[in-house]
Amino acid sequence: STPQTLAGKKVLLTAGATFEAIDPVRGITNISSGQMGLALARACRAAGAEVTLIYGQVQAPIPAGLAQAVQAVSAEAMYAAVHRHIGRQDIFIAVAAVADYKVKNSHAQKLKKDLSGSPPLIELAENPDILASVAALPQPPFCVGFAAESERVLEYARIKRAKKNIPMLVANQVAQAMGKDSNQVTILDQHGETALPHMSKADTATAIVAHLAGLLV
Ligand code: C5P
Repeated sequence: STPQTLAGKKVLLTAGATFEAIDPVRGITNISSGQMGLALARACRAAGAEVTLIYGQVQAPIPAGLAQAVQAVSAEAMYAAVHRHIGRQDIFIAVAAVADYKVKNSHAQKLKKDLSGSPPLIELAENPDILASVAALPQPPFCVGFAAESERVLEYARIKRAKKNIPMLVANQVAQAMGKDSNQVTILDQHGETALPHMSKADTATAIVAHLAGLLV
């Protein structure tokens, strides 16, 4: 059985892909499957934590034994759900692949193909950064972020950790991570950089939780 390294800790997690509506049937999303976030929720639970999960679109089952699991599909809905639950959390782990932009001119009714032949224009507006907003709270929980990059993974991850002002960041390569059931991650924290082996997301999650617990003592 897993050592109870997070016993008595309250953990809030985000997982999965967000979905930004264009109209009632169409939207903008990404290839996140939610597996890494769900595996982390399970690993935190196994380590004795009280886990609240906020999830967008996921392609795997929600783990059993969570304190709460709330679906919030757009970035704004996810932001609101996180801030409703963030009080009294000890740890916040942002795994969700959140859209940087929403559709500014989303339509209440289904768009019809224009008979004049001109394609509709989709205008974008910036979404709030959930992780940065939690890290900026007066008394933030211990924040863990993820960075999925397609190139210059560690370089961008270092910048992201500094910019969002978070103690621990997990970096991975998009092609190895998103939509896959295994992963290879590097953990960045105040002590340096720790590369984990390529392994299942379940094992990666267990190792991330062990690393996190080590930073809390
Ligand atoms: O900036 P980028 O999206 O690459 O940062 C990734 C990290 O920030 C992830 O931990 C992700 O969950 C979080 N994030 C967020 N809200 C956003 C964008 C990213 O919480 N709007």
